[in-house]
Amino acid sequence: MIRFENVSKVYADETHAVDGVDLEIEKGEFFVIIGPSGCGKTTLLKMINRLIKLTDGTIFIDEKRISDYNIHELRWNIGYVLQQIALFPHMTIAENIAIVPEMKKWKQEETDARIDELLEMVGLDAKTYRDRLPHELSGGQQQRIGVVRALAADPDIILMDEPFSALDPISREKLQEDILDLQKKINKTIIFVTHDMSEALKLADRVCIMKEGNVVQLGTPKEIVQHPSNEFVRTFVGDKKQGLDQLLDVKSIMKSPENENEGLPSISVNSHPKSVLEALTENDRILIIDKGKTIGVIDRKTVFAHLAHQQDRGEVHA
Ligand SMILES: Nc1ncnc2c1ncn2[C@@H]1O[C@H](COP(=O)(O)OP(=O)(O)OP(=O)(O)O)[C@@H](O)[C@H]1O
Ligand SMILES: [Mg+2]
Repeated sequence: MIRFENVSKVYADETHAVDGVDLEIEKGEFFVIIGPSGCGKTTLLKMINRLIKLTDGTIFIDEKRISDYNIHELRWNIGYVLQQIALFPHMTIAENIAIVPEMKKWKQEETDARIDELLEMVGLDAKTYRDRLPHELSGGQQQRIGVVRALAADPDIILMDEPFSALDPISREKLQEDILDLQKKINKTIIFVTHDMSEALKLADRVCIMKEGNVVQLGTPKEIVQHPSNEFVRTFVGDKKQGLDQLLDVKSIMKSPENENEGLPSISVNSHPKSVLEALTENDRILIIDKGKTIGVIDRKTVFAHLAHQQDRGEVHA
């Protein structure tokens, strides 16, 4: 759905921020970009919606060059959560969320209903918050508004630049669940930048590791953890590789999903086993999703019984 062909960005001062990147991101994919500060993540993201002009190469969305799209059409259909909180200070929370729906000329009632729905989704009481100004919210609350604003007009593609960095671990966890859930339900293509490897491994269908403007490895969380392509990736992944990796193959122990499972929390089939276990300490059952679709369900009892069985055989060295 989104394809980078030999894409480069050289800034006016000769900084090579992105250097000949080839990438293909599938429809409905949760694609996470990770890498050290200054490696070109934000630059890469902003080239997709033409906030930054390419120096070289081409980006295609649905086989059409981004330069051939009408700029408004392109921007309205790509939700964008900026790295810094960027709400309009003199507009209320409701007005901030309504920006794109209004440009798209949604009916007022439709926009209002959407605002309430989105506020509730991120745990903010609509009545209390919709008429406040941004400075009347905490930093973390403002960041949540930034996230839902990007979803407001139901774009096909959502770009998220470290959207959860200012949140406490509990809100962060909650929003991670929300965003996974959302992607599963409505099959959005999400490109998500983070510094946090645990977050990347939890959310991603595929992780793209960047260094100095280049892609150094691209793969599922499992591939990245089990087969880091070089020392840089190995260091970056840290000691995420544990005995559990080989032992908890979610696909082999999940059951087929049933209708009554709707509303359960979900996790990507490629998630790191540690994330799966963490999710199972909070919930008896979780859905397993792959590219936005539910493919199975696992329950705590089965997983722990499976691990206990492995341990009997002396296979756990965690
Ligand atoms: N407008 C600009 N002019 C010149 N150089 C720039 C400009 N914007 C970014 N850069 C440089 O390009 C490189 C990549 O920057 P970018 O913001 O894409 O990094 P990043 O990976 O998002 O970093 P961080 O994790 O700190 O947000 C950096 O060396 C940065 O200093
Ligand atoms: Mg950045």
